[in-house]
Amino acid sequence: MKTRRFGRTGREVSEIGFGAWAIGGSWGDVGHEDAKATVHAALDAGVTFLDTADVYGDGRSERIIAEVLEERAGARPFVATKVGRRLDPHEADGYTAANLEAFVDRNLANLGTDRLDLVQLHCPPTEVYYRPEVFGALDDLKAKGKIADYGVSVEKVEEALKAIAFPGVVSVQIIYNIFRQRPADLFFREAKARDVAVIVRVPLASGLLTGKMTRETRFDPEDHRNFNRQGAAFDVGETFAGVPYEAALDAVEELRGLVPEGVPMAAFALRWILMDDAVSVVIPGARRPEQARANAAADDVAPIAEDTMAAVREIYERRIAPHVHQRW
Ligand SMILES: NC(=O)c1ccc[n+]([C@@H]2O[C@H](COP(=O)([O-])OP(=O)(O)OC[C@H]3O[C@@H](n4cnc5c(N)ncnc54)[C@H](OP(=O)(O)O)[C@@H]3O)[C@@H](O)[C@H]2O)c1
Repeated sequence: MKTRRFGRTGREVSEIGFGAWAIGGSWGDVGHEDAKATVHAALDAGVTFLDTADVYGDGRSERIIAEVLEERAGARPFVATKVGRRLDPHEADGYTAANLEAFVDRNLANLGTDRLDLVQLHCPPTEVYYRPEVFGALDDLKAKGKIADYGVSVEKVEEALKAIAFPGVVSVQIIYNIFRQRPADLFFREAKARDVAVIVRVPLASGLLTGKMTRETRFDPEDHRNFNRQGAAFDVGETFAGVPYEAALDAVEELRGLVPEGVPMAAFALRWILMDDAVSVVIPGARRPEQARANAAADDVAPIAEDTMAAVREIYERRIAPHVHQRW
């Protein structure tokens, strides 16, 4: 597994990481043993970067990671977690020093550690980026030794650009995939210039870019691909990257012709993301060990030819951009 430098932290992390949302909740039922086996499979395959959050299964995802790490010898992977979404209502006023510290204390307890590698503000309201005191509170948590570093997870490119103006922000997590190409236009160049790490989430557009979905595919009532398709529970951009399902399926059919013989479409989609050197780590989610293994194996896929990259861009511009480009 190849590694990349995680921005100013100087730490090396596997370029393919593991997204631990689905093993926590919101993707239908994943049993405890399956969840643990999936994390073990990712780590066995050379993954050294895990992304989780305090709200994934209300802490279940973090606790599963802690259990798995307890069972393993050797170097601890880089574990990134998030705070903010436990606020109810989820408003900028809730991002106080006291609330942030209480959330971080719970992250520490769930993850069974005394210092977090990285805590990310979990898609806070845009107004938070206009409140330097929030970032000051994170500086204080760093000074206390509870967190090694902090970053943000954002919905919009504009929020990402605003966030990296704060000197303490070492990383930005953003949606970037074949169906969500805008971050590469400006934000990636700015992040690279400031040596800010970029964590790419939703790389498979919630599974669409594996090529396995059809008009007949049905999702569990407890799966956000059922209950959040119109954005009823959280930002609609987190489900299928915000692309209308049928339009996405048509684009996937056209993309199939560009995928080299013998390469799974999911691996192609992950390789496409890694073609940009502003990306520090891509974090595909997985619900089963074989998915985690297949995603890690994408690291072996050869770089994508220039004409293929151009053809992917053309499909995006024609079929997908009108639905998403100006929104996020
Ligand atoms: N606001 C935020 O900060 C935020 C929001 C969203 C996600 N994230 C992070 O980003 C991570 C990744 O995003 P995501 O999980 O939403 O979406 P994703 O990585 O695009 O899709 C993951 C889903 O695709 C399917 N899949 C994965 N690998 C596969 C393979 N090799 N073959 C076939 N199917 C496969 C699995 O679901 P099925 O098998 O059920 O199809 C899996 O749960 C999350 O786990 C989380 O850590 C953060």
